[in-house]
Amino acid sequence: MKTINQVLKEKGSEIWATAPNKTVFDALQMMADKDIGALLVMDGEKLVGIFSERDYARKVILKGKSSKELAVREVMSSHIYYITPDITCEQALGLMTQKRVRHLPVLDGNKLIGVVSIGDLVKAVIAYQKQVIDRLEKHILETTSIT
Ligand SMILES: NC(=O)c1ccc[n+]([C@@H]2O[C@H](COP(=O)([O-])OP(=O)(O)OC[C@H]3O[C@@H](n4cnc5c(N)ncnc54)[C@H](O)[C@@H]3O)[C@@H](O)[C@H]2O)c1
Repeated sequence: MKTINQVLKEKGSEIWATAPNKTVFDALQMMADKDIGALLVMDGEKLVGIFSERDYARKVILKGKSSKELAVREVMSSHIYYITPDITCEQALGLMTQKRVRHLPVLDGNKLIGVVSIGDLVKAVIAYQKQVIDRLEKHILETTSIT
């Protein structure tokens, strides 16, 4: 099973972030430009929250608020779950399921080194399971052809 470090090596450690005082509209524009579903919210070097499509749907649209008037800080999720690069994709997926989040920042000590999404992890777990199934099928074929 791949580690988060391996996933970051493949997908790259680019980090898309916005600032807490930016408007929600600006953040949504950036998410559309980058074709992603969440932005980290950075106050200078400090990670202070995550702003996701879900935050927008539930805290802006459903409340009848305007994305051009609200600041990201007012609607971001400020409780941040994070992972370290040494854990496996399966462990990270477990945390996403348990905490009901789809993006996790990756911290190496105090250093922010990347972001992984549920799509990245599902892709890695499925690839691993396919490898295991292929190996087992090969093994079964070899053993049944001997007997
Ligand atoms: N994971 C992928 O490789 C990928 C790529 C494109 C589209 N999709 C599709 O889009 C849908 C949602 O995908 P998802 O769950 O991966 O979420 P997503 O659309 O937010 O993420 C797409 C890719 O961008 C990266 N990303 C997202 N936010 C980031 C950020 N703030 N900083 C740096 N990188 C960031 C993710 O790690 C992922 O590799 C799914 O249907 C998926 O199949 C997935």
